[in-house]
Amino acid sequence: GPQNEQQRAVVEAFQHAWSAYCKYAWGHDELKPISHGWQEWMGVGLTIVDSLDTMWIMGLKDEFRAGRDWVAANLTFDKDSEAQLFEIVIRELGGLMSAYHLTQDKIFLLKAVKLADRLMPCFGGNTAIPCRMVNLRTGRTHFQDISTAESGTLQLEFRSLGRATDDKYEKAVEAVSDHLHRLKKTDGLVPTFLSGTSGQFRSSSTVSFGASADSYYEYLIKQWIQTGKKNVWMRDDYLESIEGMKKHLLKHTKPSNLAFVGSMFSPNARSVRNEMEHLTCFLPGTLALGHMAGVDPGDHLELAKQLTKTCYEMYRRMPTGLSPEVAQMNTDPHATEDLRVLHGTDYNLQRPETVESIFYLYRATKDPMYRDWGWKIFEAFEKYTRVEEGYASIDSVQRTATGYRDKMETFYLAETLKYLYLLFSDDDNLLPLDKWVFNTEAHPLPVYSR
Ligand SMILES: *[C@@H]1O[C@H](CO)[C@@H](O)[C@H](O)[C@H]1NC(C)=O
Repeated sequence: GPQNEQQRAVVEAFQHAWSAYCKYAWGHDELKPISHGWQEWMGVGLTIVDSLDTMWIMGLKDEFRAGRDWVAANLTFDKDSEAQLFEIVIRELGGLMSAYHLTQDKIFLLKAVKLADRLMPCFGGNTAIPCRMVNLRTGRTHFQDISTAESGTLQLEFRSLGRATDDKYEKAVEAVSDHLHRLKKTDGLVPTFLSGTSGQFRSSSTVSFGASADSYYEYLIKQWIQTGKKNVWMRDDYLESIEGMKKHLLKHTKPSNLAFVGSMFSPNARSVRNEMEHLTCFLPGTLALGHMAGVDPGDHLELAKQLTKTCYEMYRRMPTGLSPEVAQMNTDPHATEDLRVLHGTDYNLQRPETVESIFYLYRATKDPMYRDWGWKIFEAFEKYTRVEEGYASIDSVQRTATGYRDKMETFYLAETLKYLYLLFSDDDNLLPLDKWVFNTEAHPLPVYSR
């Protein structure tokens, strides 16, 4: 359980979110915190399964018990619903596997097998890339264009299941990774979309470390860690991609020289779009994780520090103290402001990436500045996103009297509050990073020796 004031405040925030979910949305995917209702996405109790390990880690025994009992009694995947493979794997399969590994309670493993068996048709296409959507009841798959992130962000979860049960699960996702490895890239950088018919990259798609690409890069280094640092090509693909990022996408703002990672319209475009997505703020944390795991040619930790600072500035410089979804970065020598926000990308979904990176930077450096940053962000979430019944995304970070969106994202409970809780932990033995690797939804999975 919590050991200090800051951890107690984060746990209280979690309980505030959870109790509203229990009151108005129990058993459904998501709480509607403004209208006091619920909505279904895949119909698999997503908030419960995504929250199990957070409750376990926070020492919330009664809440965990209620979630566990619901999983045992009522969780079924016999649902006539179209599930997006990536989303159900990172949230539901990841949540179940993490709960299983933390507790050794077999019910979670049993449910994970039932889910994975319904997803396996996704690996039976004409090319090596998986389906994008699958009907959970009928197994009908849709092989269509799919993002590189969606294809490359299944492996930690299926491998974890495969090692606990049957290696067919691991083999299925390794074939996808092998395929992505063999595709031709530009300095390790990948286009964001793959063709569903050819399995090749679509040459006209964007290159970035943000939406649709992000966790492909993250899972290169994390899979290398998960498999006992034995798979050399995953480490090398990761290292090459970071060099490619530095060469093509890394730029600095004026006047304050903040480092940021922009995007290009295609692998061979000359000009970089000067913007930093909040989603890209996972990258400094991954760089710091790689550094701690011994993969750093010399400049990765420094780069991680600079990018984390930029991500923090995306919060600090807004009237609400919360980051927009995308910040426009000024590189013009005459600029007076480093960042601007455009209408339409000024909302905040309580995303985790910046507090995630702050957590990794704190583990890597033990610099108390990172805890101060995390606390400031937490206070801004409390002030502007907490409502009477739960938490809600907000329409604009630029107005202190802003509108709410009627949805509480499951990743606020699964990731944002979990990383904040871990940031404020004085216990280095709480999920040590050489024994546990967090999936892209913040579900810790064990590291293997090979
Ligand atoms: C399972 O669902 C039934 C029917 O909706 C409900 O009455 C019961 O309380 C649920 N069980 C748990 C443990 O939540």
